[in-house]
Amino acid sequence: MTPRKIAAGNWKMNGLAAALAEVAALNAAHPAPACAMLLCPPATLLAQMNWAAKGSNLKLGGQDCHQDASGAHTGDISAAMLRDAGATYVILGHSERRADHGETDALVLAKAKAALACGLIPIVCIGETEAQRDAGTTLQVIGSQLDGSVPEESTAATLVVAYEPVWAIGTGRTPTIAQIAEVHAFLRARLTAKIGTAAGVSLLYGGSVKPSNATQIFAVPHVDGALVGGASLKAADFGSIVAALSAA
Ligand code: 13P
Repeated sequence: MTPRKIAAGNWKMNGLAAALAEVAALNAAHPAPACAMLLCPPATLLAQMNWAAKGSNLKLGGQDCHQDASGAHTGDISAAMLRDAGATYVILGHSERRADHGETDALVLAKAKAALACGLIPIVCIGETEAQRDAGTTLQVIGSQLDGSVPEESTAATLVVAYEPVWAIGTGRTPTIAQIAEVHAFLRARLTAKIGTAAGVSLLYGGSVKPSNATQIFAVPHVDGALVGGASLKAADFGSIVAALSAA
């Protein structure tokens, strides 16, 4: 099985209703991309974006979900709620949630299981800090994050993994092509050991992906797409990345 190519945009805590104009522009410019095109807006925009994207190829995702199906968790959002609002994916274990909210691998795993139970595809994020890379422990760190956060019952159809080096997020810095290649080859092998065959699991790179570096990154073996932050907010930039992945 060949992994699905996915260009995913993570809007993080950005976007009011006026930003839906970007969705219309994106769909108009890329009505039939040769890759999956996915936006993960703030939860407040999900249902509106779902309406705005009706009939298009754009897929939607949440940015986090709670590990429980429902209950007394003020301010939290369940996987079923995301699904109900139009999401088919959910980003889990993003380094900003791990850092800002103390999310552990065990919690990310519980959230991923909750997502799977609702038919959402988790995009499990992992990545080393700069100190960990400098200490030479990158593969150890991401290997243990992968082991601890990915449900064993995952299959190629129900799992996406995003490698996002923490030091490359929002900094304009990216790893070298050799560094990305090393991590992605490692991830493919480690995932195979964990869930059986991982040949078809989409492995995304994230961290300062932009129109000017997308083509080079998409040429790296075992890179099946990107999880894009800042450059996903503008239809023109994200559209260029979608086009680069479609051509890869
Ligand atoms: P930037 O593309 O802004 O570096 O963000 C990457 C990211 O965190 C996507 O989840």
